Amino acid sequence: MPLFMPGNADITIRTARPEDLKAVHEIELLSFPRPWPRTAFEAEILHPFSEFWVAVHGQTVVGYAILRCYETTGHLINIAVHPDWRRRGIGRRLLEWVIDWARSRRLLAIYLEVRVSNLPAQRLYERMGFVRAGRIKHYYTPDGEDAWVYRLVVPRHRTSPSNPSKS
Ligand SMILES: CC(C)(COP(=O)(O)OP(=O)(O)OC[C@H]1O[C@@H](n2cnc3c(N)ncnc32)[C@H](O)[C@@H]1OP(=O)(O)O)[C@@H](O)C(=O)NCCC(=O)NCCS
Repeated sequence: MPLFMPGNADITIRTARPEDLKAVHEIELLSFPRPWPRTAFEAEILHPFSEFWVAVHGQTVVGYAILRCYETTGHLINIAVHPDWRRRGIGRRLLEWVIDWARSRRLLAIYLEVRVSNLPAQRLYERMGFVRAGRIKHYYTPDGEDAWVYRLVVPRHRTSPSNPSKS
């Protein structure tokens, strides 16, 4: 845990590198009941249809997002922020980055799934303009929890300017 907690102004987002994966996987282990193995992240870095970004503060990886792209559709397959860095606008910054990237590549829509119990993530998605598009029964294993499917029709123009000082 850092000694002081800055806002998100000092956060930058860039493409993930192999040397980031130790920190990425540590965040994953702290963030999900059924975390991906590290090998899954190694595969995503190489995957031809995946875009994998990290949010960094100095040299420290504090979050990540992975978007799979299929023609004109993106599928957000993972996003997380280190627990010590949450509620500082980093998840929002990552999603803004994903949406800006999708717009620049002329994707039409982004989809994602989220546990019905994961209210923080749902709030974040709804704040970014995602809407519920359906519910998948027993989507998650082994507990069988349902997923909400969220969809964003990628806006052709930015609807609000990025505000890096927002925390
Ligand atoms: C979901 C997650 C990525 C959000 O990251 P974050 O950096 O804390 O999010 P932000 O600070 O950018 O929050 C943006 C908005 O999301 C909502 N939000 C985020 N965390 C929330 C919480 N714990 N409770 C309620 N709303 C929350 C709020 O509307 C917030 O805006 P506000 O702070 O102005 O109220 C983070 O909680 C996380 O890593 N969770 C574990 C992994 C996960 O669930 N990933 C999603 C899988 S589908």
